[in-house]
Amino acid sequence: MNKKAFYLLLVFFILLTSCRRVDYLKSITIEVGNEITKELIQFETTKEINFDEFDPFQLGTQNINFYVEETSYPLSVNVNDTKAPTVIQRHVVTIEADETINWEDYFDISDNSNWYEIISDIDTSLIESREESIIVRDASQNETQVSFELNVTSKEALIIQQEKELIVDVNTEFDINDYFTNNLDMNLSIYGDYDIDKVGYYPIEVGSGTQRLSVILTISDGSLTSSYKLIEPATIRDDLNIIVTKRYQLPQSYVPDNLVLIDSIYNPKSVRVTSDTALAFETMANAAKNEGHNLVATSGYRSYDFQVQVYNSFLAYDSQENVDTYSARPGHSEHQLGTTLDVCEGDLCFGNFTNTDTFHWMTNHAHEYGFILSYPLGKEGVHGYTYESWHYRYVGKDVATHFNSMNLTFEEYVQQFIE
Ligand code: DAL
Ligand code: ZN
Repeated sequence: MNKKAFYLLLVFFILLTSCRRVDYLKSITIEVGNEITKELIQFETTKEINFDEFDPFQLGTQNINFYVEETSYPLSVNVNDTKAPTVIQRHVVTIEADETINWEDYFDISDNSNWYEIISDIDTSLIESREESIIVRDASQNETQVSFELNVTSKEALIIQQEKELIVDVNTEFDINDYFTNNLDMNLSIYGDYDIDKVGYYPIEVGSGTQRLSVILTISDGSLTSSYKLIEPATIRDDLNIIVTKRYQLPQSYVPDNLVLIDSIYNPKSVRVTSDTALAFETMANAAKNEGHNLVATSGYRSYDFQVQVYNSFLAYDSQENVDTYSARPGHSEHQLGTTLDVCEGDLCFGNFTNTDTFHWMTNHAHEYGFILSYPLGKEGVHGYTYESWHYRYVGKDVATHFNSMNLTFEEYVQQFIE
């Protein structure tokens, strides 16, 4: 073969091999945790491709080979991490003060690198509900920031006290903390919806975290008066704590068991109450008598129908707006429970009872016999009646004693301590 022919053959051979050369991406970049695929390297074949062992979690470049039948091909794989962790909130974050937050209890957190850290500088000693955020960061400094509501509750029970009637002028900003105080000096929040631009009654909750009090927010243009607008059936229960107020109404059919006459010495009007109430009242009246007081009952159990008569008899000569400040509408009177009494000193009843020594004695001792004043002074905005120094409800000694230390209405007390 001459030289020319040799070169021609060489060129032909080179051309031939270059035609057979396989085209693919020799260097690829993948996201951490991902597998290498045929598509990624853009290798066109219907045959099976086998890759060398490779660690999808090791960041940086790894040089490997892959094989198609007997032929091996080099491949440079650069493992990158550009994706930030995924964070999905599952639960409201409510913790007790100073509790360590276990984030995985509240959030589903994942990262494609299988590694992340949580960065938080939350002060868990501050007892309040507030907006907080944490940062979840992976090893490549990719970050996801999540904002959420954090409720930090106290180990001590939060006792919320209403200071004045929750009536707000329409279209007017207000601070709920002007209406409620609490034993832990916490900033209280409102839970529930209302429209400050729309006159109406809105059932809301006031409190912090999970410790809340159900109340009615009245948004008023001055035309709304009583709280009979949002009436609900009273929850009937077997203990002494049925709430009966302007909001919670007993059915006409509700009649207590065991109604008995109180001992006639303390019962000039022959009123009936439940047997436990009668016994407690007789014991109290007897103790009062030993200290020179003539404590008697003037009203006890009143049926729904009798309350209709009582209420209507007032309406005969007074406006409904006035009557609603001193007489309960049918179904709304605690007298229907059979555990409630109006008391007198001899024949000094109602307003006249307030100035007697017997009332003073009752103020100091009624709780020892299980009686509380249902409509105390200073809480008119909550119970909705003018002060009644004579209207006592039997709730048992322990509750009466605890209740007296609280300055709450019975409804507020039951909501916070019994329900
Ligand atoms: N005087 C109270 C409010 C009643 O009628 O039950
Ligand atoms: Zn009464």
